[in-house]
Amino acid sequence: MTLSRATTPEAVRRLSRKLRSRGKRLALVPTMGALHEGHLSLVRLAARDADRVMVSLFVNPLQFGPQEDLGSYPRDTRRDLGLLAGEPVDAVYLPTGETMYPEGFAARVTVSGLDSRLEGAARPGHFVGVCTVVLKLLNAVEPDVLWLGQKDAQQCAVLERLVRDLDLPVRVKRGPTVREPDGLAMSSRNAYLNPEERAQAPALFQALRLAQAAARSGERDPGALRALVSGHLAGAPLARLEYVEVVDARTLEPLARVAGDVLVALACRIGPARLIDNVRFRVAEPGAAR
Ligand code: PAJ
Repeated sequence: MTLSRATTPEAVRRLSRKLRSRGKRLALVPTMGALHEGHLSLVRLAARDADRVMVSLFVNPLQFGPQEDLGSYPRDTRRDLGLLAGEPVDAVYLPTGETMYPEGFAARVTVSGLDSRLEGAARPGHFVGVCTVVLKLLNAVEPDVLWLGQKDAQQCAVLERLVRDLDLPVRVKRGPTVREPDGLAMSSRNAYLNPEERAQAPALFQALRLAQAAARSGERDPGALRALVSGHLAGAPLARLEYVEVVDARTLEPLARVAGDVLVALACRIGPARLIDNVRFRVAEPGAAR
């Protein structure tokens, strides 16, 4: 497929209007590049659901903390464009740092509360950066649908709230987490792992699955699920658990009891990589108010 490209908000808006002419529905898949099957799965889901698909590639400096990996984040636009050429994509938005954040850029977008737990607590300012860039992308591209990955469950929750609270005319859809055959969630940051670290990384998802299985078997104590996760990760000495939380999947509030729409989310350091993963499941309790 020939890919149309735009690099400025003005150009992408013109391109988007062309793509949406005669009532065609446009989906946007925002990414920071370093594309893998997780990103491509969103592209394919988007193409099944909408008439046109646009992918944005932009490593957003605003969502990285001063001690984080902005400098080393993998960048290979040529490879990314090569991968997208084989996918059902119509257009690519490649904003530069200067067009996204010109001299004097001062606006910031916050979804307070939701953005301060889990990843927000560990990465202060991260979701302000995510919300600011995604609102800019939505304003420039004007898509009908925004596709996000469940891999970043909190990002989904925060952006869904942003869209709802600001009456943004876009539907948000989530794609499931794509994993390596051994269960490790695909991530651009997996590239940071050496072979020894990589061999221990599947422990993250194994630990989450143990928690999910315990909940299925009737465990209702969030502390017991967290203990199962940390206990399992103790068997992977290169993995240092940063947090594991059992929360309501929509509000991200910690659960007093494992019930309803449950999200078990964790962050873990392995060598130079900081990896996140989660499982989401429903626990129906007989007689519980719904
Ligand atoms: P990035 O990490 O590049 O991810 C882009 C999209 O791909 C996100 O919606 C993310 O949840 C999804 N994704 C990543 N790994 C996935 C996997 N293994 N399976 C399914 N989906 C996966 O998330 C960002 O970029 C940025 O924060 C962004 C939204 C682009 C704003 O800068």
